[in-house]
Amino acid sequence: MPDINLIIDGQPVAVPAGTNIVDAARAAGVSIPVFCYHPKLNPVGMCRMCMVEVWTPRVDPATRQVVMGDDGKPVMAMMMGKLQPGCVTPVSDGMEVRTGTEKVKFTQKGALEFLLTSHPLDCPVCDKGGECPLQNLTMQWGPGLSRFDYADKVHFEKPIALGDLIYLDRERCILCSRCVRFEDDIAGDPVLGFDNRGRNWEIIAKGEPAFDSKFSGNTTDICPVGALTTADFRFKARVWELQPVPSVCTNCSVGCDLTLDMRHNELKRVMPRENEFVNEIWLCDKGRFGMRAAENSARLTTPFIRRNGQLVAATWADALALVADKLSVGGAQVGGIAGPSLSNEDYFLFARLFRSVLGSNNLDYRPGAASDPAIDHWVNTLGVGSGTNLTKLGKGTAVLIVGADPEEEAPLYTLRVRGIQNRGGDVTVINPYPTKLGKSANRSLHPKAGTGPHVVLAMLKTVFEENLLKTETLGSRIRGLAAAQRVLANETVEGLCEIAGVSAESVRAAARAFATAENGIILYGTLALTVGAGLLAPLAALAITLGKVGRAGSGLISLTNGGNARGAIDMGVRPDAGAAGLSAQAMLSAAQSGNLKALYVAGSDPAADNPAAVEALKALEFLVVQDQFLTETAQLAHVVLPLAAISEREGTTTNAERRVQRFRQARHTTADVRSVWETAQQVASMVLEGALVGASANGKASGSAANSNSWDYAVAEDVTTAITSTVRSYAQATIANLSVGTGTWGRQSSEQVYYDGTSYENAEGLGVQLAAQADDGKSELPMKISIPVAPNADGLKLIAAPRAYDNRDWGRGSKLAPRMVPAHVILSVADAKASSITIGDHVTVQSEAGQVTLPAQIDASLRQGYVLIADVRGAGLAGLATGGVTMVRVEKAE
Ligand code: SF4
Ligand code: FES
Repeated sequence: MPDINLIIDGQPVAVPAGTNIVDAARAAGVSIPVFCYHPKLNPVGMCRMCMVEVWTPRVDPATRQVVMGDDGKPVMAMMMGKLQPGCVTPVSDGMEVRTGTEKVKFTQKGALEFLLTSHPLDCPVCDKGGECPLQNLTMQWGPGLSRFDYADKVHFEKPIALGDLIYLDRERCILCSRCVRFEDDIAGDPVLGFDNRGRNWEIIAKGEPAFDSKFSGNTTDICPVGALTTADFRFKARVWELQPVPSVCTNCSVGCDLTLDMRHNELKRVMPRENEFVNEIWLCDKGRFGMRAAENSARLTTPFIRRNGQLVAATWADALALVADKLSVGGAQVGGIAGPSLSNEDYFLFARLFRSVLGSNNLDYRPGAASDPAIDHWVNTLGVGSGTNLTKLGKGTAVLIVGADPEEEAPLYTLRVRGIQNRGGDVTVINPYPTKLGKSANRSLHPKAGTGPHVVLAMLKTVFEENLLKTETLGSRIRGLAAAQRVLANETVEGLCEIAGVSAESVRAAARAFATAENGIILYGTLALTVGAGLLAPLAALAITLGKVGRAGSGLISLTNGGNARGAIDMGVRPDAGAAGLSAQAMLSAAQSGNLKALYVAGSDPAADNPAAVEALKALEFLVVQDQFLTETAQLAHVVLPLAAISEREGTTTNAERRVQRFRQARHTTADVRSVWETAQQVASMVLEGALVGASANGKASGSAANSNSWDYAVAEDVTTAITSTVRSYAQATIANLSVGTGTWGRQSSEQVYYDGTSYENAEGLGVQLAAQADDGKSELPMKISIPVAPNADGLKLIAAPRAYDNRDWGRGSKLAPRMVPAHVILSVADAKASSITIGDHVTVQSEAGQVTLPAQIDASLRQGYVLIADVRGAGLAGLATGGVTMVRVEKAE
């Protein structure tokens, strides 16, 4: 877009066409005060704080030519003869903006005088005090006196709850609609609105339950006054007393940058830390309010050893000696499961302990059924190219969401994908059941279970048939194109769509949109297996034939479980890295049959998710569990070790887009809790000192994490450095590189005045996005597709439906408790009727692997043939999964 040239306060500026005057002024370093305007929201021009003089060249209506003065310059005229709101007025060539004239100052004072007519002077007790744009702008631009009668101030009941998380003090509200616009446009939850008129005009929460949005906390950040406050922080501290510590959320795979605001070693609030590559300036409520577990009184603070059947408090020295002794049996008889929300440093040394000291490759990060290994593999090969920034994508980008419910799995991706669509991008959702993103997508398809590959193959067939191929970018790197075309030669789009039960027309439209877009993002999640095992090969073929890999703005994103599954995979905490070992599920079977003697479980609770695991865990000769709480698995252990929370230590994590980021220590606890990396190092040293095993590795971790045998890491940073020097793909993720980059907007000193309280500047660095293999510009890109057998049309198929509020340990002590989803099963209307099941009945769901009994719900939007179980604590899903599509039977329990 060509630049527009204008003058602001005498200073020439060039900005892209379409820029508004407020942003143009920012670019020129000139502050125009705003309230309702926010760079991330659509402007509405409601508050009139940004009024400025706008002069444009006068045009002769007869000739439509600019009138020139005697001095040879255009004759200027004030736009419409009065001041204009800068936030809704776009710049134009030759425009002159004056922001400091007497008229402007008079209007600014008037605007503030009006805004303060009813605003109470309760700044000393208001949570926004100290980071309040209204305070700041009043001091800088406001009148010293008000002509309004103090007795005329409107009084409201103080405060009212807009929901269980957010409070509203109505008389503080300046009705700027930032909160309404955030929920409508950015979150896609139209749950706030205005009610009444005149002096009774107020914000209300619509719907039941009230303020039902997973992003509600963001409204308190962007509220430019203290009208909205969180139940979590209200009256907890003054903001200037807080010590902000940079951290990373490990509640899901987005890995949002956040700040832990500490006072006297206590977490007072969680705020977003700006990173346009990850979470922009937003956080979901799970990240913002779900950080209280570390301070929970039920935390483990000391090791325990089982003596005479009871867990008895013990010293670390005794506990570690026992662990080292028991694990030293070594080889295939020992195994390790490390949950998906630990740090890269934990995984690195955990894997090394097993592979190079204990000589075992039995390692996994998933407590349940093994997923399709391709899910891990394809992201490292074809993952989004380095430099990808979803915030910059819009028109010209197509997003394909397959087997994922981002709002439940990785909430921030809802905002990111909606942002792409709001900026003109195209979104297709392919998921077994309707999701929130599916509702606003350009098209949404609900294939029968197991037929996801057929839908993607139908898209590929459309690409071949309509000659939409774009092979020029990847050229000779592509392998197997002719063979893929042969595989699909005798298939028709209609035939494949019929198998999947979806509209061929929509599939063709999706294929065209994806093929013709310049950038293509494929996002898949934990439902990918339900959609159909073998889904990844056709998705990869689609991406490769259309040149949507190996460059910034295109490629695959996998929404893995937990906050750092990516790191676990990369550090080799999985059975298929190097020499093959047992998966978690296979380890449990081996335990049951007496072939696995000892197991180290860290940050994972298999017993809670799989009733069958309990028997297997009981059969072990030795079980050591390291966790923050006495979990169901820990209750079965011979040794329990207290785990340090992420906020109590330092380290790095890797997110779904392969961005490595650093978190810092915020909390100093007197309890002797330790990280997994420290514990693994201590166990390894004891084993080696006692030469208890003496065996070296019989396998290697990916990236040769197992190669070095030095065990002398003093601090987490030493382990980070070891990772960068031994795990090849992490070579660039050095501490120095992780610290590069800062926030990009709202942080010029003058802007802090009106965007204050919104988010924290990212002083810690933006992290490093690891390159995907395809980014190297040379590696071969093979594609290999086949037509899967159409799954059995009869019978009921199980869906493990992700739920953000899953009632697991991360949420202990948080204000989210009322939102935690209890374990339940959901049936379609037809299937419920067929088994005479009504809402609330207890229903037994049985698969080949096991059975669970849960209360039933009935969903009219669920396709017949699916049985959906919410993936929450106590649902027992891991005990039902058989891998791929799991067939189940359902009957009313007695
Ligand atoms: Fe944490 Fe995920 Fe929410 Fe971000 S989107 S705040 S990473 S739970
Ligand atoms: Fe422009 Fe409110 S009218 S900031």
